[in-house]
Amino acid sequence: MQTGVDIIKISRFEKLMQDDKFLNKYYSKIETEYINKKSNKIETIAGLYAAKEAVLKALGIGIGRGLDLKEIAINHDDNGAPFVEVDAKMQYYLNAKGCSNISVSISHDGEYAISFCVIN
Ligand SMILES: CC(C)(COP(=O)(O)OP(=O)(O)OC[C@H]1O[C@@H](n2cnc3c(N)ncnc32)[C@H](O)[C@@H]1OP(=O)(O)O)[C@@H](O)C(=O)NCCC(=O)NCCS
Repeated sequence: MQTGVDIIKISRFEKLMQDDKFLNKYYSKIETEYINKKSNKIETIAGLYAAKEAVLKALGIGIGRGLDLKEIAINHDDNGAPFVEVDAKMQYYLNAKGCSNISVSISHDGEYAISFCVIN
């Protein structure tokens, strides 16, 4: 089992979102659709970003070292719970850690968004 955690100051994303290209550069299609559905809520955007970084930490790889942030796709089930889409590339990195499952959780309150990822 490996874990990864990330905390983000939500206000950072108000500035980043002034760039029209920001979402498309770092977020997968499934995430941008979810963000649109959530009316571009800044805490949702920050929470998803934290989730991507938590995933990278759990997998033991840093940003730009094999898996781009955009390639990490956080989806949501019918209850709204986030989960990581596992494509062939994600499966490769899970296998490299001797793992087959990946779980992620997101929370936000006030100024911060936090995410925690477990692979096992
Ligand atoms: C899950 C829940 C309790 C979280 O509420 P909260 O404490 O006010 O919110 P937090 O800031 O801690 O977490 C929000 C994030 O939790 C995640 N989330 C939402 N529903 C979730 C669920 N059912 N299970 C797990 N995570 C969930 C999302 O990533 C959400 O972020 P988003 O709204 O930006 O997409 C609330 O969303 C809820 O009651 N959902 C519907 C009922 C439900 O399915 N409950 C299952 C409890 S396990």
